[in-house]
Amino acid sequence: MSYAARFSTWAEVSLQAIEDNVAWFVRHSRARVMAVVKADGYGHGALPVARAALRAGATWLAVARAEEAFQLRQAGLSCPILLLGHWPPEPLAELIAQEISLALWSGAQAEQAASVAGRVGRPARVHLKVDTGMGRLGVQAEEALPLVRRLAAMEGLTFEGLFTHFARADEADPRPTDEQERRLAGLLQALDAEGLRPPLVHAANSAASLTRPHDHFDLIRVGIAIYGLHPSAECPLPAGFSPALYWKTQLSQVKVLPPGRGLSYGHEYVTTRQERIGTLPVGYADGFRRTAGNQVLVGGKVVPVVGRVCMDQCLVQLDAVPEARVGDEVVLIGEQGGARRTAEQVAACWGTINYEVTCAIGKRVPRVYLGEGEPPP
Ligand SMILES: Cc1ncc(COP(=O)(O)O)c(C=O)c1O
Repeated sequence: MSYAARFSTWAEVSLQAIEDNVAWFVRHSRARVMAVVKADGYGHGALPVARAALRAGATWLAVARAEEAFQLRQAGLSCPILLLGHWPPEPLAELIAQEISLALWSGAQAEQAASVAGRVGRPARVHLKVDTGMGRLGVQAEEALPLVRRLAAMEGLTFEGLFTHFARADEADPRPTDEQERRLAGLLQALDAEGLRPPLVHAANSAASLTRPHDHFDLIRVGIAIYGLHPSAECPLPAGFSPALYWKTQLSQVKVLPPGRGLSYGHEYVTTRQERIGTLPVGYADGFRRTAGNQVLVGGKVVPVVGRVCMDQCLVQLDAVPEARVGDEVVLIGEQGGARRTAEQVAACWGTINYEVTCAIGKRVPRVYLGEGEPPP
């Protein structure tokens, strides 16, 4: 039975595409591959994506929240998992007990982790986060050496890694990232001199993994690219990657309206002649933004969304596809009859980036996983 017979709107995810995209990095890097599956796998579904990434040769997973790490463990994934950012105190014991590696950036956090590790009876695995120019989280690179000395000597901690995050690796100008790299290199030199370098040094996100092989170090942290999405317009994916997510809906009504009819809340669109109008069961509660200028694919053609997007529905102008009928599939992101609508195009229409488009696809939009070997729709 087709998805249109079961769902009003849905997202199809090709796990084969995820596997192929991850495998590209496994082939092209000597470093270990960490698949970043935070935010429910950038909206694709953390668990299926994590499993696909591991099948393809990734050996680490990364998340942003304690609950995201627990979800992976609960599903039986025993691979190393790094919690990239903040952890509140309450789940700390459970994080340590479940062998989730923790990012930390202060002596206070190190002491807290060591003390809880003592109670849990298992060492806390930690990765020191170093701020080399993102300004978000991390000890300043120039101040990191004394903290590393403390970490390395602290009972109850396993000093597993050290990492930084690039702010501008997706830009054509390499200089800001060169500067971050230079700060990291200075610290690593100081650590090497004292024999304090941990086993895993890592810095590269997708953009740096694609363009800066000298920054791969021991592990690369790849997110956006494993979903087949471009890190940016200035840092496009090379050939060999394909997008994994297709967002679809269907026509719930098709009608012909006379001239002068106002459409949707506020009547921002008024028909100027006899017009064919379709209704779609998808709206801003599904993550389809209430922004002017949306377009979708119907009958293999690009058609405009007209009038305001409502919570659960929106309207399309169908004069270009007179053959469109109730129940016909409509593509918000993906391909249809040779026409394409990419997450990047949707992002441009919304004044944002592709990351936000897929992350914001609503919880109530079912994700369905295309079987292995199935042709992309
Ligand atoms: C610390 C860290 N590393 C790696 C990534 C992956 O970045 P990207 O999706 O650009 O590959 C992120 C994502 O935001 C991140 O916050």
